[in-house]
Amino acid sequence: MIALPEGSRLDRGSGGLERLVVETPRAEAHVYLHGAQVTHFQPRTGRPVLFLSKKSGFVGGMPGKAIRGGVPISFPWFAAKAGDASAPSHGFARLVAWELVDVRRDGEERVVARLRLVANDLTRRWFPHDFACTFTVTVGGELGLELAVENAGNGPMRFEQALHTYFAVGDVRRTLLLGLESKTYVDKVAGFARKPPAAAPLGIEGETDRIYLEAPPRITIEDPVGARSIRVENAGAANTVVWNPWIDKAKAMADLGDDEWAEMICVETANVGEDALELAAGGSHTMRVTIGVGGLGPR
Ligand code: BG6
Repeated sequence: MIALPEGSRLDRGSGGLERLVVETPRAEAHVYLHGAQVTHFQPRTGRPVLFLSKKSGFVGGMPGKAIRGGVPISFPWFAAKAGDASAPSHGFARLVAWELVDVRRDGEERVVARLRLVANDLTRRWFPHDFACTFTVTVGGELGLELAVENAGNGPMRFEQALHTYFAVGDVRRTLLLGLESKTYVDKVAGFARKPPAAAPLGIEGETDRIYLEAPPRITIEDPVGARSIRVENAGAANTVVWNPWIDKAKAMADLGDDEWAEMICVETANVGEDALELAAGGSHTMRVTIGVGGLGPR
């Protein structure tokens, strides 16, 4: 049993799954050990920043099911695994329990938790590499997430990864994403067609599933119905993925309420597709996202 500093405790969350609860003077957060999944982040002065489906399953086990919402970790492949239709969508990292390594305070206002996943018999079934993932969650006025992947094997290791963040918005139809205007993207809804930059903020007007081929250092989610903006700051990521299932796909998903598509937008910090990472033996890579909330300023 690890020592937990003031402002943090372990309890059983939905489905009886083990969960770290963090309460700081600035914010509160929940992190399930299953998937190392942050499911809740709420600054003291505002509403929850992350969307979590009311219909999400919370099923543990080796493997269990993915939690629908918060920040699922997609690793070591993104979406469907190339050449293996039987492999789980988005990899195994979100399906298994991670080890809680330590939790510490960083000054008065922040709590930092580290979780770890290393290769085991189950992961080797799909991914024949020795790896070590360390996920660091910093809860303060902002939410900091850092995924470090190390190649602990003897040969090169190629993989994809995403911090598949579900943001809560008042109404996705009135939400705008700023920061992607100059970026080329692959449009999965149009059969993976490569599309030129839109030269305008991105509004969501239908099913949206895009891989932007360059991740800007900052994306702003303007949410007029929620009367706030959310800042998403990326580092170590080549791609931004934007996803909203819209009406029909949401209806077809057992773990998403029929109307919940309107309350969420996924803006994902990623290295996927042609930007998959390759690490030499002993090499490591760190990807970060920092999430903060602000008002709606003039543009
Ligand atoms: C997105 C993908 O990141 O995740 C979509 O771009 C996918 O194609 C979505 O549908 C949800 O995936 P899942 O496996 O959680 O239902």
